[in-house]
Amino acid sequence: MSGPLVDKHILLGVTGSIACYKAIDLASKLVQAGALVDTVMTYGATQFVTPLAFRSITHREVVTDTFDPNSQYTHEHVALARQADIVVIAPATVHTIGKLAAGLADDPLTTTIIATTAPVLVAPAMDANMYDNPATQDNLAVLRRRGMTIVGPASGRLASGLTGKGRLVEPVELLGHISALLGRDGDLAGKTIVVSAGGTMEPIDPVRVITNHSSGKMGYAVAEAVRDRGGSAVLVTAPTGLPDPPLVRVVRVKTAQEMCDAVLGEVKQADALIMAAAVADYRPEVEAGQKIKKSSDDMVISLAKTTDILEAAQGNFVKVGFAAESQNLVENAKDKVKRKNLDLIVANDITEPDSGFGTDTNRVTLISRDLQVQELPLLTKYEVGNEILDRVRELLKS
Ligand code: CTP
Repeated sequence: MSGPLVDKHILLGVTGSIACYKAIDLASKLVQAGALVDTVMTYGATQFVTPLAFRSITHREVVTDTFDPNSQYTHEHVALARQADIVVIAPATVHTIGKLAAGLADDPLTTTIIATTAPVLVAPAMDANMYDNPATQDNLAVLRRRGMTIVGPASGRLASGLTGKGRLVEPVELLGHISALLGRDGDLAGKTIVVSAGGTMEPIDPVRVITNHSSGKMGYAVAEAVRDRGGSAVLVTAPTGLPDPPLVRVVRVKTAQEMCDAVLGEVKQADALIMAAAVADYRPEVEAGQKIKKSSDDMVISLAKTTDILEAAQGNFVKVGFAAESQNLVENAKDKVKRKNLDLIVANDITEPDSGFGTDTNRVTLISRDLQVQELPLLTKYEVGNEILDRVRELLKS
């Protein structure tokens, strides 16, 4: 297993809110991502969910009592604080936020937090009026000023029946924030990398488009990997079914021309461009203003060539292309390195069952500017992203 959370000690603080049920899901997702999760629950949290739920998922001790004589952490109550790579309080109630702002330490969670030097992420959950209260806002401002990261709350329907700001941010989104926080001093800190993703859509008429099978997963995974190494990721994406990755700046486009404009604009301030998008090579010459009605038995649509974005993107940045091939993989990819003046190309055979469109894995071959070929094994798209970024980092150094 690989990824930003593998073998990371995560101290999950759970406080008394109905959103505690989501903390169980968060613990599960963290464990699945390879993290070692120690849970500390306040008394209030134990009224909503049981310590057993967390113990069953994390397979580690759950601390609920600072003075529990049977706990392995009793004699050194700051042991958890010391071993944590990150502390995540989810959900964080208004009361715990207030205690943290005041510097109190009267339960196992606040005692641990005041003793930690690890980054602390606070995910508030409360009713809208409680969140809007000036006392809460002041306390959150204090925590922010002290370097804690506040994520959320999100807006929506609240347990009270009110609609407003107060919902705990979804676990999958918290996962992105946790990965980013753990990697904030990574080897791409200070670098901006533009990544394109998805298959462009070229309109025929107001109803129909020409597009391709790209899911966007490869580009999104690269953008997340940039973020998790401390870099600023700008994701220029054609429509996909994927959620926006947290802490990645997303620029939405539809057509090849829109993608071209966005990429050429963004790359002016960037250190690297990674074109993972499947850009249409041709678009309908004219877009019909009205829906084309069915008439004759056959139909011809006249197509015009789109701009090649990689070829058009010139400047002082590292340029990485992809080559999706169904035959003569290496020769075709080498040709694209030269034609598009690339520092690196990532070639994959789209006919392989576990690679290419829609899968979570990819088997790629990397080819450098001097046409050196390196075949990589089957990897997750996130791992492929990191392999590409290892090369990009080396190129940025030289
Ligand atoms: N690309 C681009 N602009 C285009 C078409 C492609 O920037 N109008 C980029 C893709 O994002 C990819 C690389 O060029 O990084 C190669 O794309 P690919 O479709 O494999 O190659 P093409 O240049 O389109 O050539 P062919 O279709 O003949 O294989």
